[in-house]
Amino acid sequence: MKPASLDFWHSAALPLTTITAWEALFDRLGVSAEGHDTGKSVLIVGGAGGVGSISIQLAKKVAKLKVIATASRPESAKWVIELGADHIVDHFGDMPKQLKDADFEQVDYVLIFNDTDKHFLAAAAVIATQGDICTIIENGKPIAVELMKAKSAAFHWEFMFTCSMFGTPDMIEQHKLLTEVARLIDASTIKTTLGRDLGKINATNLREAHQLLEEGRAIGKLVLTGF
Ligand SMILES: NC(=O)c1ccc[n+]([C@@H]2O[C@H](COP(=O)([O-])OP(=O)(O)OC[C@H]3O[C@@H](n4cnc5c(N)ncnc54)[C@H](OP(=O)(O)O)[C@@H]3O)[C@@H](O)[C@H]2O)c1
Repeated sequence: MKPASLDFWHSAALPLTTITAWEALFDRLGVSAEGHDTGKSVLIVGGAGGVGSISIQLAKKVAKLKVIATASRPESAKWVIELGADHIVDHFGDMPKQLKDADFEQVDYVLIFNDTDKHFLAAAAVIATQGDICTIIENGKPIAVELMKAKSAAFHWEFMFTCSMFGTPDMIEQHKLLTEVARLIDASTIKTTLGRDLGKINATNLREAHQLLEEGRAIGKLVLTGF
């Protein structure tokens, strides 16, 4: 159900990314939604994107994790801090070194929301023993999961269409998680991830939206209105 406190365009920014983020964090990584993992750490790669923006909030406000989000620009760094990130590292820099400098030798969980090919090695280097890495981005070259063997760490995929594509028996869980997130929004625990409303759809703003996405410069979700 749509959050009662949001209009349609602020609501439209949420469902797909919320399902992805919730399933990645709670179903794939196995983080407790009841706070049993309070104080553990998660590295969220691509923190300012649509999935990252809702994941930061779920990890911080619901799971009570220590959240390290990646951001490379002042405006994306400001955005992830406002959403609740405790620390920032730059995904274009040496992430293991930046984490070490911030006193995180290892992290309990890693969520990869951008460029698995580029970020897997860093994720494997910083994941804690028996930790969990989840990606939502298809790889273009082989993923060296053997690097995680000595640590007995686990690698997971998240694809939000798996349930509908295969008609899994737990499909109803997506309805339940969206209802729960609508409740959290109406309780002001979580906020919309709408980053920019580009206005009534036309050829110019549609092109602008595509350009922002293709260049990897979107912050939060872009919304076009007036359908
Ligand atoms: N598997 C699934 O179910 C699923 C669901 C939803 C989305 N997706 C996929 O997930 C990806 C992310 O989508 P999104 O809407 O969340 O975000 P997005 O709009 O693609 O992400 C934009 C952000 O990515 C950051 N970024 C750019 N290049 C990066 C890099 N090389 N490494 C890390 N971060 C980088 C930028 O941050 P800075 O400005 O700080 O650089 C920017 O704010 C897309 O490829 C989408 O197709 C998959």
